Amino acid sequence: MELADKKASDAAGLTDGAGVTAGGARRRRRCNPAIILGSLGFALGLISLIFAIYAATVARKGLTAANSGGGTGAVLSTDPRRGPAGAAFDGGLFAGSGYFAPMRPMKYSRSDFRASPVGNDIYLTGGLTNEAAPIPGDANSTVAKPTGRAIPNLVRYDTYTGAARELAPMPEPRTRHAAAVYGNNIYIMGGLTDVSDPDKHDPAGTVLVYDVTKGTWSTLPGRLTTPRTDACATAIDGKIYLMGGWAANYSAQLGGEVLDLKTGAWSPLPDGMIKRGDCECAALDDCVFVVGGWGPEDFSNVSECYHPSKGAWSRRADMPRPRGDFAAELLPGGRVLVLGGESGLPGKQGSNEHAMHHVDLYDFGDDVWTRKAPLPEARFRFDAAHVDQRVYVYGGQPTCTNSPKDNEALGRQPCVKVALDSTYVFLDIDHPNTYLYTKQ
Ligand SMILES: *[C@@H]1O[C@H](CO)[C@@H](O)[C@H](O)[C@H]1NC(C)=O
Ligand SMILES: *[C@@H]1O[C@H](CO)[C@@H](O)[C@H](O)[C@H]1NC(C)=O
Ligand SMILES: *[C@@H]1O[C@H](CO)[C@@H](O)[C@H](O)[C@H]1NC(C)=O
Repeated sequence: MELADKKASDAAGLTDGAGVTAGGARRRRRCNPAIILGSLGFALGLISLIFAIYAATVARKGLTAANSGGGTGAVLSTDPRRGPAGAAFDGGLFAGSGYFAPMRPMKYSRSDFRASPVGNDIYLTGGLTNEAAPIPGDANSTVAKPTGRAIPNLVRYDTYTGAARELAPMPEPRTRHAAAVYGNNIYIMGGLTDVSDPDKHDPAGTVLVYDVTKGTWSTLPGRLTTPRTDACATAIDGKIYLMGGWAANYSAQLGGEVLDLKTGAWSPLPDGMIKRGDCECAALDDCVFVVGGWGPEDFSNVSECYHPSKGAWSRRADMPRPRGDFAAELLPGGRVLVLGGESGLPGKQGSNEHAMHHVDLYDFGDDVWTRKAPLPEARFRFDAAHVDQRVYVYGGQPTCTNSPKDNEALGRQPCVKVALDSTYVFLDIDHPNTYLYTKQ
């Protein structure tokens, strides 16, 4: 009975799908971006499918060769831990898959903000800009600052239509803050309210809340146990976890703390995390996942879990490369997509502000990382958000260490001068986990 129902609903889904395609042909003249995206996704799907069939065929041939004694070839497996005798693990079969489609740019350049998905919309909060042109909602938009300025702006990006709309700004500017979504609320934690003096690093200890349903901002009564910038946050089971970041005056890198939404109280998490700033996090199954960042003394490739049920930490597989100030988005099936970020220049110890193209996918169940298609435009100090198998990437800063000499006058934040307004969407087909072993 259940099976029959399932088949009926699948059939209904198919009909709907065909309707959308036909409608797409009719409506194409009106240039509906959602339809174009849909068609693009379909075409990509087809290409991926052809690739998958080809890869599977090649691999099957490999399997034959490997089995027929001493030959070379490739073998497929769903187990990333154990392969056939004499064959070396060669990573995920779908390494390099995915595609970035350029989207309409933002109305102004922006870095060091947060992108938070609620339903089909993505909410961009605060950040840093160097725009001379007035920005609606930013009372300071005509104030020219060599270090750029922190903005209070809230933009809602509709992933169906591509429309971006300015909503009620935050009660005060915030940049380099953390953000988490719980229910219909967006929580903004820590960060800086003012960047006009590059020698000042005085993080906020308050939590701002945007109620998406009411369209209003409020401030929570409880304060962070340690005010901080450049932390990451994620919410699960009525709690918000705030991980890592920099304490006032960059005096220390921090561990984690947790907000109980029922009591409104913040409390520190047990020690165990490798303390770092500029890290990213995601809520997996009884694992608050923390990855990358700067700490203790360089960019980090460390990934670890805080397990709320045990109150303890555990180490997970290293990220394929160290990075800070990147974006990490939770995808369905216990996977985390890690995009771009900041690294040092190869061989230049302690260097930074080098923007990365690299994109890697972490699978929590298999504890394995797989490379994905790279970002067309490298960036760091940006954010991304996942909605329905699409990951939207906004703004940030490109490599700027080697920027023209006049930027030296800009102190610690020269990169703001070249901040990006570009946006992309990452599209991929949901592949089953399949790994390649090769025999030589
Ligand atoms: C304008 O900037 C000042 C100092 O830089 C800050 O205190 C104030 O909150 C800002 N106002 C807005 C609306 O951004
Ligand atoms: C940070 O440094 C400033 C200026 O030196 C000082 O006034 C302030 O108390 C320091 N803050 C903390 C939390 O140490
Ligand atoms: C992660 O970084 C450490 C320290 O630099 C290094 O020893 C290790 O090999 C790295 N892991 C990977 C997967 O590259």
